[in-house]
Amino acid sequence: MELHIAETREDLVERMARAAAEWIGAHPGSLVCLAAGDTPLPVYARLVALQAEGRVDLASVFYAGLDEWVGLGPADAGSCLQVMRDAFYDPAGIPADRRRVFDGLADPATECRAMERWIEAHGGIRFTLLGIGMNGHVGFNEPGAPDGEGCLVVALDDITQTVGVKYFDRERTLRQGVTVGLRSLSKAEIVFLMATGERKADIVGRMLSGDPAVPASRLLPHPGLRIYLDREAAGRL
Ligand code: GLP
Repeated sequence: MELHIAETREDLVERMARAAAEWIGAHPGSLVCLAAGDTPLPVYARLVALQAEGRVDLASVFYAGLDEWVGLGPADAGSCLQVMRDAFYDPAGIPADRRRVFDGLADPATECRAMERWIEAHGGIRFTLLGIGMNGHVGFNEPGAPDGEGCLVVALDDITQTVGVKYFDRERTLRQGVTVGLRSLSKAEIVFLMATGERKADIVGRMLSGDPAVPASRLLPHPGLRIYLDREAAGRL
């Protein structure tokens, strides 16, 4: 495991974007899994800028969406699909046949099987960039959720439902998520986990102490885990 702590968020974003661009450049045709959520958005913007500077071809790899709110579709503000399409896939010019994201309006179990087939058909996820939720979730691998193979339909816990309000333009009652499971993510060679801001300091501290109630702790033994924090998120280490 590598732990990177940057003095500023800008420095953190720059380091992550360059490391991700370097990996993508060296692994054309590989499958990459990117988290939605607010935290990694500046990294995606920087990756798009690096591509515009001719330093990386982001369409040289394939993409799998990490998770989705069951009940939200492409037209819904705050769906992972909408966020990733507008923040990354479209500005980066990723062709539709190089990406697969969950459709939160479709049958969730069927979506899981379709994502598993996509992951399998592209040789498994080799690189993933993750955030961490306020309850320690990764994707929608919630505390207490089963640690099964492939993709899962998960009951969202109270913290996720409460925190999730920040993404939406109106009141939503969302009880389930679909997600790539932790085991599939753990098969990646490189796992970036990013956290910024003081509000993440507690959960990051719990994760790094190996708290078994924190799903992200299960990534700790992964040899390719690279945790990127700003000074505030590292405040309880
Ligand atoms: C969200 C998503 C995760 C995300 C995490 C952190 O609910 N399900 O994929 O990484 O929680 O989100 P944020 O970066 O907005 O804090």
